[in-house]
Amino acid sequence: MGFFAAHPTRHPVNCPDINSLTPYLADFATNSTDVTIPAAVVILALAVFQVVRKTGIKRSPLDALPSVGIPRYPCGFYVGAWNYLKHGRAITQDGYIKHRGKPFKVALANRWLVLVSGRQLVEDLRKASDEFLSFSEGINSVLHHEYTVGHEQHHDPYQIPVVRSPMTRNIAVCFPDLYSEVVAAFENLVPATTDDWISVCAMQTMLPVVSRVSNRFFVGLKCRDPEYIKITTQFASDVIRDAAWLHVTPPFLRPLAARLFGHLESATRRAMKHLGPIIQHRLNMDERYGRDWPNTARPNDMISWLVDEVRGHQTRRTVRTLTRTLLNVNFGAIHTTTEGCLHALYSLAANPNYIEPLRTEISSIVQTEGWTKVAIGKMVMLDSFMKESSRFSPGGAVGMLRHAVKDFTFSDGTVVPAGTLIAVPILAEHHDERNYPNAQIFDPFRFSRMRDVAGEGLKHQMVTPSPSFLTFGLGRHACPGRFFAVNEQKLIMAHVILTYDFRLEDGLRPEDEWLGLMQGANTSAKVLFRRRKYITDA
Ligand code: HEM
Ligand SMILES: *[C@@H]1O[C@H](CO)[C@@H](O)[C@H](O)[C@H]1NC(C)=O
Repeated sequence: MGFFAAHPTRHPVNCPDINSLTPYLADFATNSTDVTIPAAVVILALAVFQVVRKTGIKRSPLDALPSVGIPRYPCGFYVGAWNYLKHGRAITQDGYIKHRGKPFKVALANRWLVLVSGRQLVEDLRKASDEFLSFSEGINSVLHHEYTVGHEQHHDPYQIPVVRSPMTRNIAVCFPDLYSEVVAAFENLVPATTDDWISVCAMQTMLPVVSRVSNRFFVGLKCRDPEYIKITTQFASDVIRDAAWLHVTPPFLRPLAARLFGHLESATRRAMKHLGPIIQHRLNMDERYGRDWPNTARPNDMISWLVDEVRGHQTRRTVRTLTRTLLNVNFGAIHTTTEGCLHALYSLAANPNYIEPLRTEISSIVQTEGWTKVAIGKMVMLDSFMKESSRFSPGGAVGMLRHAVKDFTFSDGTVVPAGTLIAVPILAEHHDERNYPNAQIFDPFRFSRMRDVAGEGLKHQMVTPSPSFLTFGLGRHACPGRFFAVNEQKLIMAHVILTYDFRLEDGLRPEDEWLGLMQGANTSAKVLFRRRKYITDA
């Protein structure tokens, strides 16, 4: 995938290695007298070049870091980069075990990736300001945001405070709508009866469910329009695909190539067809009345919260920019949330013994609380199961990608020069015995047991990032959408668990699909559903 494909900008090694060439040239010189003098000149020139190279050119501080997965022969870097593309997950794990909390480097196609782990260094990364270690440049170096989600979005991601604040504050108020959308989406997409099992492709089902539920929150009932669902679910694949080929396009050609072959413009146009009139009406009403509309209440959705944010702002306050912003929010929200639900669904279907305790918890809470945010908050076993699922499937082998825009010094003295990419091997952290006893064992209720300890409740919830739970990142840039994402995932799974019996055709958990460093839930597996006879909720 685009993540770690060729990046033709920086050459971190000198290739071929001069040292390995000189003996052959010397050999050649002694055997043939005719060329002794020219050969001597060449050798002398190479020797001088060597001296100049050793003394004159500044060595990179990265030379001091151990590398992992790089053969020692000339051009080994490139072989290493190829290996990393194919076996990145295993190489990352090896380096993590071998260097135990010390930084090491691995080869991307044309640059180094420095991997840092352990509490202290991850803490350094968390605390570093964007002036030194940039989050957005980290993303940009992989996703080419400038072209794939747009210049304005890359430089002015004003949805972040909206997601963090008004959106998160409104989860409880909007919960009845979210629940009714979950019910309606499953009625449509998994129309099982109590008599027969029906078989559906889990991915093809969960993706539109999540798009509908998320967009009920973002844009209201428009979420049910099949064409709109297609646009929102398609956009993420467009971004990833465009990023992949832009990655191997020389930087100076990217603006033109993106304009000619990119999908951003057509996605924006198609999304504007659906959202344009809604947004325009919202802007008009906002101009006249602000938040307090006469006669009808202003819709309480992401469009309104974004309109609040852009009030009085020339460049942000356009139908086009707002549409792009909503597309980008969808990009960040839908596939991540879908993946979480799929991994959980597969693990449950493959381990039916986890289902009963969850069903008991969910139905007793729903009986007293109804389907509310408070109820979801009380489902600590479900929370634990979802968190354990996400500990095993955080979406990739590495996370917390940052781009050093200035030289940066870690607290152990390690220096990474400007231009370096840095990441944390999150999957390895999630499987480290020092972070979790029996780390290799899927233990669905490990976190709910930990929460039983007095005063430890909140620390072990799924929404709380920590140096040993990095699915949502950590620190300033930790996913601001995680409160919504966790509520949504738990709501969807709680509904599935109470409404259906479900199983896999052969009983085995469908294997994950790895693409380079990216982890995906199985995209083709089918899950069988049958409606339960006695649904115990209200
Ligand atoms: C299970 C679902 C989700 C996962 C696993 C996830 C994961 C992440 C991760 C790993 C980051 C980067 C953190 C870092 O590098 O330190 C991030 C950032 C972000 N996420 Fe999520 N996310 C999810 C759902 C959502 C949702 C539903 C929304 C919005 C509605 C959202 C909005 C964002 C935004 C705006 C950022 C950028 C934050 C910044 O630049 O400071 N995410 N997310
Ligand atoms: C996905 O799951 C199906 C059924 O379990 C399996 O046949 C297939 O190989 C899996 N796909 C991948 C890429 O592992």
